[in-house]
Order: sequence, then structure tokens, then C-alpha cells
Amino acid sequence: MEARIDRKDLFVTSKLWCTNLVPERVRPALENTLKDLQLDYIDLYHIHWPFRLKDGAHKPPEAGEVLEFDMEGVWKEMENLVKDGLVKDIGICNYTVTKLDRLLRSAKITPAVCQMEMHPGWKNDKIFEACKKHGIHVTAYSPLGSSEKNLAHDPVVEKVANKLNKTPGQVLIRWALQRGTSVIPKSSKDERIKENIQVFGWEIPEEDFKVLCSIKDEKRVLTGEELFVNKTHGPYKSASEVWDHEN
Ligand SMILES: NC(=O)c1ccc[n+]([C@@H]2O[C@H](COP(=O)([O-])OP(=O)(O)OC[C@H]3O[C@@H](n4cnc5c(N)ncnc54)[C@H](OP(=O)(O)O)[C@@H]3O)[C@@H](O)[C@H]2O)c1
Repeated sequence: MEARIDRKDLFVTSKLWCTNLVPERVRPALENTLKDLQLDYIDLYHIHWPFRLKDGAHKPPEAGEVLEFDMEGVWKEMENLVKDGLVKDIGICNYTVTKLDRLLRSAKITPAVCQMEMHPGWKNDKIFEACKKHGIHVTAYSPLGSSEKNLAHDPVVEKVANKLNKTPGQVLIRWALQRGTSVIPKSSKDERIKENIQVFGWEIPEEDFKVLCSIKDEKRVLTGEELFVNKTHGPYKSASEVWDHEN
């Protein structure tokens, strides 16, 4: 017999891509997602990045492919999706404090969630604190440092993992949970997916938590450079400009 899962037991989230960051494209984009997923609503809809890209933009973008973004207009349309029951909650990703403050000045619905890169090698404290202040839940993406800067082999993480008889992956995921964020690790391997969920019912002791927090902030993995920087024509000529020079 076919197993059935009740819709209310699933949490489905999706994101609005940069090419659709125009008020009149918000609803059609969400409707396409609902059609693809064969659903009547989703639980959470994020703005993926606070930058608009022209259809067919290159990586890195060519001149004129990074466009102005009507943040207030797009958010109003996101709010209308909530009012019409097509999404339960709306959120943002990759926002700086400056951009969050701008959004909050006109928002009628405060973002429920802000999704940001966060791991012991990139704690992203400024936006984390700003979100806490405004009651916005934070989700940590790339919590293992992604494939590029995987922290599973970091000696500090390995040491804590050995001490606690856990794997480095579990320690990194648990660190994110104890910090007060939700966390979305990714693995293509069954065994690791099972490993990565074994993060409940135990704790990283405070002294080890502090040791993990003391890993030096080096560099974010996802700088946005490939997507948004055109060193000659701008409007963003460096990764630091993408992040409002905040970090
Ligand atoms: N909002 C955004 O802009 C944004 C940006 C980036 C990512 N994200 C989201 O964040 C999620 C995760 O991010 P991510 O894939 O960049 O990084 P991640 O989850 O930090 O790292 C994934 C990498 O870690 C490996 N891995 C998984 N479990 C492991 C373990 N227990 N021990 C050692 N290595 C392990 C995976 O390899 P194997 O596959 O070989 O296990 C893969 O190479 C994604 O689902 C993505 O949707 C969001």
C-alpha cells in the first residue's frame, strides 16, 4: 500500500530568485513553484538574495545585468502572498543590517526568518544580533563550511568531536542549534544524512562551545562575487560592496 504523508506534517520552503525580484513577477514565480511542487501553499518563501539580475545574466555578470531592486514593492507582494494564503510565512536571505533596517521601515509583516551563512569560521554576529533584536528567526546555511571550506577537518572541531565522542559534522550542527539558529546541512550520502540528524539529546558543554566560538572568522564561503560583481562596470565592483562593507 502506498504510504501517504499528511501535508500538515511537511514543512516546505522555497526562494524567489534574483531575476524575479520585481513586484509583478513575485506572484507568478510563486505560482510556478506551487505548480512544480503540486501544492496549494508553501510554509516559507524567502527572497534569495537582495539583488536583482537580468534574465539570462552571466556568471560573473556582464555590464547592465545587475539591476536596481524595488525592495519595498517586492516585499509588499510577498506580504500579499501571505494575505492570500499562498505562503504561511515570508523570509529573507543574505541581508545586511543596512538592508534589513531599510526593509523594516516599510514592512507590514516582519520577516519570519533570515537565512545566512553561519558556521564557527563565519559567525556573522552583526546580522544575527540585529535579527534577535527584531524577533526574526535565523537559519544557518552552509553550517559545515560547505564543500569549499569544509570544517569537518578543522583541528579544533576534530578535538571537540573526539572529546564528546561525536563526529565533527554533528558538532558543527549542534553548535548552530545551541547558538539559537535552525540549521540546514546538506549531504548527498545516506549515511551522512543519518549522522547529521543525531544532534538531539546531548549538548556541547559551555567550555567546548566557547572553544568553537573562538575559531577565527576568516572569510564567508559564499561571497556573492560570482553572481553580482562586475569589477569594471559595477554597480558592485567588489564582494565587500555586495555586503555594504559591513563585514
Ligand atoms: N540562502 C542561500 O543563499 C543559501 C546559500 C548556500 C546554501 N544554502 C543552503 O544551505 C544548505 C547547505 O549548504 P551547503 O551545501 O553550502 O553546505 P554544508 O551543508 O555546510 O556542506 C555540504 C558539504 O559538506 C559535506 N558533508 C555533509 N555532511 C557531512 C559530515 N557529516 N561530515 C563531513 N562532511 C559532510 C557534503 O558532502 P557529501 O554530499 O559528500 O556528504 C558537502 O560537500 C543547502 O541545502 C542550501 O540550500 C542556502
